[in-house]
Amino acid sequence: MIFIALEPIDTPVEERFMPRITFLPMNRTVEVDAGTTVLEAAHEHDIALEGACEGSLACSTCHVIVAREWYPRLEAADDEEEDMLDRAFGVTPTSRLGCQLQITDDLDGITVTIPEYSVNIHVDKKRGGA
Ligand code: FES
Repeated sequence: MIFIALEPIDTPVEERFMPRITFLPMNRTVEVDAGTTVLEAAHEHDIALEGACEGSLACSTCHVIVAREWYPRLEAADDEEEDMLDRAFGVTPTSRLGCQLQITDDLDGITVTIPEYSVNIHVDKKRGGA
């Protein structure tokens, strides 16, 4: 006698957990793969967060303000990020650079606000500003 093991054809596909991030003031919540930066999440979902230097820590246009209740859960910013944040417009105690902030599973539900204004150091220097 021969037995053949058959897998049921209606086996549910395991759903992959994806952390969520909410962007304010547009109040849009999106799901992203863990490890995605806030800047990448915004760009993947057509949310207006500039990121002029594409994450090379040279502009501060990716400045976001993390909701106060989430800030203590974040990895600390390194010196390079702190230095660039010092040049951002309207920095708050919970400000971070979106290109440096990775969304992990533990940050599922985080909320960040995109400030109304940003400073593009590269462009502003060429124009004779900052
Ligand atoms: S995109 Fe330029 S510092 Fe983040």
